[in-house]
Amino acid sequence: GVKIVTIGGGSSYTPELMEGFIKRYDELPIREIWLVDIEDGKEKLETVGTMAQRMWDASPYDVKVHLTLDRREALKDADFVTTQFRVGLLDARIKDERIPLSYGMVGQETNGAGGIFKAFRTIPVILDIVEDMKELCPNAWLINFTNPAGMVTDAVVRYGKWDKVLGLCNVPVGAMMAEPELIGKTLDELVYSFAGINHFHWHRVRDLQGNDVTGEIIEKMYSNDSGIPANIHDIPFFLDQVKQMNMIPCGYHRYYYRTEEMLNHMLEEYNDPAVGTRAQQVKQTEAELFELYKDPNLDHKPEQLSKRGGAHYSDAACETIASIYANKNTHIVVSTKNNGAVPDLPADTVVEVSAYIGAAGARPIAFGELPAAEKGWLQVMKNMEQVVEEAAVTGNYALALQAFTINPLIPSGETAKRVLDELLIAHKKYLPQF
Ligand code: NAD
Ligand code: G6P
Ligand code: MN
Repeated sequence: GVKIVTIGGGSSYTPELMEGFIKRYDELPIREIWLVDIEDGKEKLETVGTMAQRMWDASPYDVKVHLTLDRREALKDADFVTTQFRVGLLDARIKDERIPLSYGMVGQETNGAGGIFKAFRTIPVILDIVEDMKELCPNAWLINFTNPAGMVTDAVVRYGKWDKVLGLCNVPVGAMMAEPELIGKTLDELVYSFAGINHFHWHRVRDLQGNDVTGEIIEKMYSNDSGIPANIHDIPFFLDQVKQMNMIPCGYHRYYYRTEEMLNHMLEEYNDPAVGTRAQQVKQTEAELFELYKDPNLDHKPEQLSKRGGAHYSDAACETIASIYANKNTHIVVSTKNNGAVPDLPADTVVEVSAYIGAAGARPIAFGELPAAEKGWLQVMKNMEQVVEEAAVTGNYALALQAFTINPLIPSGETAKRVLDELLIAHKKYLPQF
């Protein structure tokens, strides 16, 4: 049987993960699941972990869910390690959102100054986990969900020197679930190709005759629900611009293609005490979810979890693990080593692309060169991320300032430096490297 270890097991998403594993038990026979958390997440771990065990007990399968604060005990002989932790919990995210916004800049979990600081807090922790894995489960696969998933996954490869890693995101899953019906098709009648980096990818769609139907989907999107995650405000892209690209941008591109409008929306909503920042809204949802999880009669994933932006996350995570284990060669969009699939970026860097997932990991599918505008964006963003990663590993202040300077959502100057300094102080506890 398979041993799964989930780091950040106290997350409210854990039932989503259990549901995905229960659904796939026939192809992925799990023996035991270890949910790992830290002292600060102990209560959450106990509540959601007990709920997770109830889900298995209500299934036909005999799986034991272990709860522990001892990561090393859990990692011993693991087959798959999934990560869904948040260093500093939602209070740290509130600071990532609130501080940049108070200076008139986008305050977001994975973008702009907030995203950079989430990387600073997270990368040292993931590298520690990799060191433990080298010792305790050297053959395991690391399936990373922890944001910023692209940078975290890239850091595992570049600095952790660990290649058996795949980064995942639910955004491509959401697009593939919502779009086909817009043109009266089902997913298996279409061929999807994604390329870019996490939260900054585009995709094209063809039918089984090879005709490009991207434009058709784009036209329909403007009159329908486009399937973007619940956490992103739905300001439409300029139709002319998207038609020119003939690619569908991901929801997060709104922060770059409509910065002005997204910022104005954030200023309005986040500064409204009745609404608050996204993390403040999520805190509310999380409290409701944990109340439900405490109910000893609840043994399935509650509907309310769909209020979180990461809905359907297990469709990516559990399908990836099942595809590796059963050598299924399924098409899944993952963050993995480029190896030429996106020729505009180096071969040894991590990109988010369509890939076939099987026993040997990911085989990325060639996307080809991007048009000039998208290539420019992608190269800036990828290089910005590399500077962030190096700053996260070294604690070098000048590199952090460089990352701020080239990040397109941070206007350079005195104010940017002030935001950097203020975030460094606000997150001091979680930034021992600086
Ligand atoms: P959360 O705030 O509930 O945190 C999850 C758990 O991580 C908490 O119980 C916390 O105590 C624990 N934790 C913190 N530091 C830890 C450490 N050093 N070791 C072990 N556990 C630790 O977070 P959430 O809202 O459930 O999100 C979890 C993570 O998954 C975040 O990083 C989030 O950005 C990410 N996420 C990614 C996607 C995606 O598309 N890739 C989707 C959803 C969530
Ligand atoms: C999206 C992204 C995730 C992100 C999440 C935020 O779907 O893919 O990477 O973490 O939404 O959702 P939340 O409910 O925490 O705002
Ligand atoms: Mn994501």
